[in-house]
Amino acid sequence: MRLLLVVGAVLASIGLAEAGNFTWDMKMFYVNGQAHQIIGGQIDPQRVPREYWAQRLQMAKGMGLNTIFSYLYWQDIEEHEGQFDFTGRNDVAAWFKAIQDAGLKAVLRPGPYVCAERDWGGIPGWVSQVPGLKIRSNNQPFLEKTAKYLARVGEQLRTLLITNDGPILMVQIENEYGYVGNDKNYLKALSNLLATSFPGLKQYTNDGSTALKSGFLSGALAVVDGGGSQNGFAKLRSDITDQSSRGPLMNGELWITWFDVWGPKKSHSGNNGNAGDVDFILADGNHFSLFMFHGGTSWAFGAGAQDGLPVQPFTTSYDYGAVLDETGRAASNYAPFRNAIAKKISVPAIPSNPPLQSISDFALTPVANWFDKLPTAVTSSSPKVMEALGQVWGYVLYEHMATQQASGKVVPGNGIRDRVIVYVNGVKQGVIDGIYKNPATVNVNIKSGDKLWLLVENLGRADNGFSDQTKGILGSVTVGGKTLNQWNHYSLPLDSAPSDLSTTSAISVKAIGAPVWYRGTFANTKSGMAADTFLALPGGIKGVVFVNGHNLGRYWAIGPQQHLFLPGAWLNATNEVLVLELEPGTSSRVARGSATRTWGNNPDPDCDNCS
Ligand SMILES: *[C@@H]1O[C@H](CO)[C@@H](O)[C@H](O)[C@H]1NC(C)=O
Ligand SMILES: *[C@@H]1O[C@H](CO)[C@@H](O)[C@H](O)[C@H]1NC(C)=O
Repeated sequence: MRLLLVVGAVLASIGLAEAGNFTWDMKMFYVNGQAHQIIGGQIDPQRVPREYWAQRLQMAKGMGLNTIFSYLYWQDIEEHEGQFDFTGRNDVAAWFKAIQDAGLKAVLRPGPYVCAERDWGGIPGWVSQVPGLKIRSNNQPFLEKTAKYLARVGEQLRTLLITNDGPILMVQIENEYGYVGNDKNYLKALSNLLATSFPGLKQYTNDGSTALKSGFLSGALAVVDGGGSQNGFAKLRSDITDQSSRGPLMNGELWITWFDVWGPKKSHSGNNGNAGDVDFILADGNHFSLFMFHGGTSWAFGAGAQDGLPVQPFTTSYDYGAVLDETGRAASNYAPFRNAIAKKISVPAIPSNPPLQSISDFALTPVANWFDKLPTAVTSSSPKVMEALGQVWGYVLYEHMATQQASGKVVPGNGIRDRVIVYVNGVKQGVIDGIYKNPATVNVNIKSGDKLWLLVENLGRADNGFSDQTKGILGSVTVGGKTLNQWNHYSLPLDSAPSDLSTTSAISVKAIGAPVWYRGTFANTKSGMAADTFLALPGGIKGVVFVNGHNLGRYWAIGPQQHLFLPGAWLNATNEVLVLELEPGTSSRVARGSATRTWGNNPDPDCDNCS
């Protein structure tokens, strides 16, 4: 340690000191010696179309923010082990460069674990298959996988750290760890990995006010999060007595509203956050980051679920009731927050945004039965979980060819993970849905030669907690108490839509209820945000939508989400919409674009009286 200090002093004296620095005293942060009161807000780049990153940052400036906090989602950067993807929305270097170009500063929250209402809190599903691995603990396999991930992120961001004159001021260790543990060796191990990947960057921890003591790490700044900063700041001062972790009072996640979960009785959380806490914080010259300033969208299958059973999956929209809505336009609570900030500092003009467009009804034509073209089966005596098939997201079709008679209730393994559609000889029998404490009972009567299909959907791994988060079927399937052996597994991750649907002609949908792909096209004359629209799929029950190859995520009639955000930046003059409907009816269908969105619920057609 002493030797390093001496070397540092020598380097400084010969002019090789850091290009920039970030420091603090008990009250204020300093960037290169200049006071920097953090007036921040959270935007996670992977939930925002890359084409719109710069616009979102201008809206942040327009509200008076000077610092952007961002989680990174490991699961998107390394969806498959060892295959790193830093393109598109995963181009995190481009994100922090955009922050720099906007004249803003940044705080990095790279995980490994981020919570963030993501599938498994941002940890890739394949991690569950590593022998002996235990997430969020001082466990060698977990730290090894984490080290590889952080090293690659570090390479991407090296030139963007404050120490290299970049915008990134500091990096967070873990996330709200104090709620689940107090192992300082684990935090220290993570801190060492961060120091290797982000050399010279200051570190901090972020915890709820009741978990500060368990979550802080000596030497890293302790920051509190949650609503109610008055109490949080008092706890920071009373509970953090280690001088090396004390500093300015900051709320690292000032919660303004809340996320949504799917369910026929679940409502949208709305934009009702009040700006009073911002007044309180700014009056005393303290620091905050609004969570979320802009939530965005959990594209494809990125949304997670709340911990515990029954499973409570998060909606595709991560609008969050945030000040900047899912489309990047100011919500009703933008102005009150801006006014609160404008009392303290001068705030630039708010950039104006075009309204969304509407697109009139266009036909959705059924073009393929999903199960007509299945991938090669993996066969085993008892069912394998999704991750054991090398799959993280989407669906697995489990197939059993009956060799003997069985009748009665279908039990799809130990617990329902998470939603199971049951078919006999291709005909839908019912849905066992893990979002209910008491899901529907599905009874079947199969005889030798019959084909039983269980289509199992991963609705999202819990974003919080340590419980086993494998998906698919765990344990054995029984029918009327009889265990069924010998299974074919068809892995259906839906990483992209099938490539041959554009040229397929219409099929007739049979009233058997197996999933069907629909195809439609529509014209568009606008561009950029003026082409943004809310896609509605009247008559649809549940499925996934691809537009020009972009997976917009899940739709589900039960709500509260009733529209999918379709960014205009992804549109052309003619556009192809591919809809996978899991539970097709036989009637013809349309889709349309709406300039406004409504939230609301419909009864669950698969279980009207489930609770
Ligand atoms: C930080 O940068 C400022 C401005 O260049 C400089 O005066 C100060 O000495 C630096 N502080 C540290 C701790 O390096
Ligand atoms: C359509 O838009 C996408 C961007 O979403 C673009 O990559 C593609 O090249 C466009 N296709 C045509 C035919 O213009």
